[in-house]
Amino acid sequence: MPTTLLAIESSCDETAVAILRHDHGKVDTLASEISSQIDIHREFGGVVPELASRNHSLHLRPLIEIALKNAGITIDAIDAFGATAGPGLASSLLVGNTTAKSLALSAGKPFISVNHMEGHLLSPFLGQQDLHSNLALIVSGGHTLLIHMKDFGDYTLLGSTRDDAAGEAYDKVGKMLGLPYPGGPEIEKQARSGSPTAFAFPRSMMKDGLHFSFSGLKTAVLYQLEKLDPTQGKAPADAIPDLCASFQQAVIDVLVHKTLLAAEQCGERLITLSGGVSCNQALRKAMQKACDDRGYELRIAAPALSTDNAAMIAFVALHSHLRGHSSSLHEDINPNLQLIAAP
Ligand code: KG4
Ligand code: ZN
Repeated sequence: MPTTLLAIESSCDETAVAILRHDHGKVDTLASEISSQIDIHREFGGVVPELASRNHSLHLRPLIEIALKNAGITIDAIDAFGATAGPGLASSLLVGNTTAKSLALSAGKPFISVNHMEGHLLSPFLGQQDLHSNLALIVSGGHTLLIHMKDFGDYTLLGSTRDDAAGEAYDKVGKMLGLPYPGGPEIEKQARSGSPTAFAFPRSMMKDGLHFSFSGLKTAVLYQLEKLDPTQGKAPADAIPDLCASFQQAVIDVLVHKTLLAAEQCGERLITLSGGVSCNQALRKAMQKACDDRGYELRIAAPALSTDNAAMIAFVALHSHLRGHSSSLHEDINPNLQLIAAP
């Protein structure tokens, strides 16, 4: 019997709805719709929580209709509903989570609450029935995690950031350089015409196990800006590509080094890369080369599935549902939801 599941993602500034169908060991994406609010938040230089939740409320219902239409089904065909329960912005999470619970309640179907980070973790396997044990690097706006995934639900945290996440560092440095929000894709664009060796920025905690720290790097960029223009502390336009390329190279060097170290430590030959920062082509290339050199297999989700989307949330919910798990409608959202408790 095929199983069809609809899931909602609304943890930050993307409203997203996806419908997946599992049939004879195959998982098909029937619809994956995203309504991005980036343009709304850009003029404020970052996400404004109240604007985010109001826009989720406005766009979610029509997006569900569009997803059903694109999937060619009606809501009666949905066997289970899923939604992100955290981590994320409380007021944003509530919109998607409560909507999915209401749909499940009115249809008398199960509800499955999903950890957003588990969505990223499983995204490189989307479309496949089988999951494989792997060493995962998740690099998003709020998290930098090294996880040993042995099976669905069997995750060991090997490393995380002591301060800023990789994406957060990109966004903060982008802001310092006067680039539009979000900084990640803008820095990548600027870096293409810059030199990665123009400025010697620090590679923090390189010899310090599997944890990360990116705030020292951010401060080093700030000091460099003050050196370049002591009166304003602003980047001269012609220095921006070099600053971006040198910053990006420092981030990539640390991410690649620690990922390979973690793979070696846990003995995994398969490495996965996920989260918004994994859209970065320079990071993908550097990680691919490092994996090729050592004979590791690398799996990365397509860019559209690396940033926030509902297909990855539906995928986790589907795996839970197929294992007979469901969540209580009384289960609250949790803005600080952890995927794995730190050891
Ligand atoms: O996974 P995601 O969409 O949302 C969170 O769960 O946080 O990640 C968003 C982060 C932002 O910090 C954004 O600047 C970064 O991913 N990002 C990038 C790129 N595209 C998005 N960072 C570097 N290069 C990119 N091309
Ligand atoms: Zn995310």
